[in-house]
Amino acid sequence: MNWNEISSPTITFERASVLFGPSPEKNCPNILELMRQGQSKDNIRKSTGYTIGLIEVSLTIDPGEMFVVMGLSGSGKSTLLRLINRLITPTMGTTRVGQIDVAALNQGDLLAFRRQNVSMVFQSFGLLPHRNVTDNIAFPLRVQGYARSSARARAAGWIERVGLVGYGNAMPSELSSGMQQRVGLARALVTGAPILLMDEPFGALDPLTRRAMQQELKALQRDLGKTVVLITHDPMEAFNLADRIALLREGQLVQLAAPEVMAAAPADEEVSAFVSAARDLP
Ligand SMILES: Nc1ncnc2c1ncn2[C@@H]1O[C@H](COP(=O)(O)OP(=O)(O)OP(=O)(O)O)[C@@H](O)[C@H]1O
Ligand SMILES: [Mg+2]
Repeated sequence: MNWNEISSPTITFERASVLFGPSPEKNCPNILELMRQGQSKDNIRKSTGYTIGLIEVSLTIDPGEMFVVMGLSGSGKSTLLRLINRLITPTMGTTRVGQIDVAALNQGDLLAFRRQNVSMVFQSFGLLPHRNVTDNIAFPLRVQGYARSSARARAAGWIERVGLVGYGNAMPSELSSGMQQRVGLARALVTGAPILLMDEPFGALDPLTRRAMQQELKALQRDLGKTVVLITHDPMEAFNLADRIALLREGQLVQLAAPEVMAAAPADEEVSAFVSAARDLP
C-alpha cells in the first residue's frame, strides 16, 4: 500500500465506542443499553465495573481542519484522539482515516500508517532528555531510516521555523517550557505527516506563552494545511483556534459546531457555560 497517496485524509468516526474492563466487546451492547436507559457513567461503573471511554461517537473531521475537542476531565477527549492512531482500539464501531479502517490494520501496516500519516504533541512534551534539540527533532526521521546527516539537516529547517535558531545544540533541560513545546511541535512536523494530534499541548505553559504558541500554531496550520485535532481544557483557547469544536460529556458527543454557531445556539447548559467562559463572562 502506498501511504503517501493519503495527502490530506478525512477522519471518520462511525458509532465508535470504547469500553474499559474485561471482555469489553462482549459486554459493550449491554452497557450501551444501560446508557440508553439514561444511567450515568458513574452508576454504570458502580453497578457493572466497566468504565465508559466513549459511546457511539459519529463525526467527520475534514482535511485541513482545526478540530478542537473539549469537555470536563474524564469526558473521553484523549480516548477520542487516541482512536485516530490506534493507541486505543474501538470496542465497537469504526475509525477511518481516508479509506483506511484503522482498527483493521495489521501491526506492520499500523506502524507504517502512524509514521507517515499521524504525529502527536503531548502536554508533557515527551522529549528525549539526553539528546539535544536537533536530535530530538530529527528523531522521527531516524526511526524512518533517514541517515543522521540528512535527518539533522531537515531538523535544522524546523528549528528555524519554530523560532529556536541558535538552540540546536541545547539540551531539553536547558530550555523553558515554551521552548520545549516548540521542540515538540517541530518534531511532530518534521515527518510531513498530514495529521497532527495534540493532547493539551499548551496546558503546561503560562498564559502569555500559551497565547503566543496558539498564534504560531494557527500560522503554521494556515501555511501547511495540516489536519489538527487538538484537545484543550481552556474554552478561550478552543474559541480562538477552532474551525469546529466537539464537546464531550461522559463519553458522548454533546455538540459539534463552529465556535460562532455554538455561541449562538448552545446545545445545553454545559455548552452555554463553556461559551461564557470563552468570552470571560461570569
Ligand atoms: N486505560 C484505561 N483503563 C481504564 N479506564 C480508562 C483508561 N483510559 C481512560 N479510562 C477512562 O475513560 C474515561 C475517559 O478517559 P479520557 O482519558 O479519554 O478522558 P479525558 O477527557 O481525556 O480526561 P482528562 O481531561 O482528565 O485528560 C475516564 O473515565 C477514564 O478514567
Ligand atoms: Mg485526556
